[in-house]
Amino acid sequence: MGRKKIVAGNWKMNTNLNEALDLISEIKKGSEQFYGVEKIIFPPFTFLKNANDSLATTTAFFIGAQNCSEHSKGAFTGEVSAEMLSSVGCKFVLVGHSERRTFFKESDEQLILKIQNALKNNLHVIFCFGEQLEERKGGKHFETVKKQLENVLKNFSESELNKMYLAYEPVWAIGTGETATPQQAQEMHAYIRKIISELFSSALAQNTPILYGGSCNAQNARELFSCADVDGGLIGGASLKAADFCKIIASF
Ligand code: PGA
Repeated sequence: MGRKKIVAGNWKMNTNLNEALDLISEIKKGSEQFYGVEKIIFPPFTFLKNANDSLATTTAFFIGAQNCSEHSKGAFTGEVSAEMLSSVGCKFVLVGHSERRTFFKESDEQLILKIQNALKNNLHVIFCFGEQLEERKGGKHFETVKKQLENVLKNFSESELNKMYLAYEPVWAIGTGETATPQQAQEMHAYIRKIISELFSSALAQNTPILYGGSCNAQNARELFSCADVDGGLIGGASLKAADFCKIIASF
């Protein structure tokens, strides 16, 4: 059996409640015939419960959070725990997104704790990583990705990895309009499977979904998704337009 096909939309800090609900209902309408594709949206924390309620009976459509605390509970003003997310119907959480690593200085140690908390609360993790422009230019992209994966994933077991998806997001492609070519994406995704195979097993490497993220849109998704080791996309900007997001869902 082949791997799942997945399209995930990271809304970042966009939409208000009404806009969020309108967007979900349009995406729902425009994508319901694509039940073979797993759809996940990552709205802001404040709308997660509403979003989940509005999708209650929708097939293969899940809600996720863009972040969670590395702590389980207590005096951490402003933080949101994995248990809270689980209790409002979240099934997924993003960990390691480059904006969290860069703007909020999240370290590998914090990412490990976030993943531990997420898994403990039955959330599936989409672990994000990818090289900076200078690293790509200097030919260090494979080395960087290897380190990002090893530093975090070596702390988990193969059965824990079974509850995780990976998202390769070259930082130079995020929100820039510049996309990795299908050749660059395929080459890196195949390399990621090799690392997973070395760290765990070839069975896990073959079964783990690996998404591509970074200016993936309605125009380039089909070519990217046709690559043998690309199982779908983590979409930022284009996930805020229902028509574009649905076109991406229809791109397999
Ligand atoms: P983008 O964002 O599609 O706007 O480049 C991708 C992401 O940050 O996940």
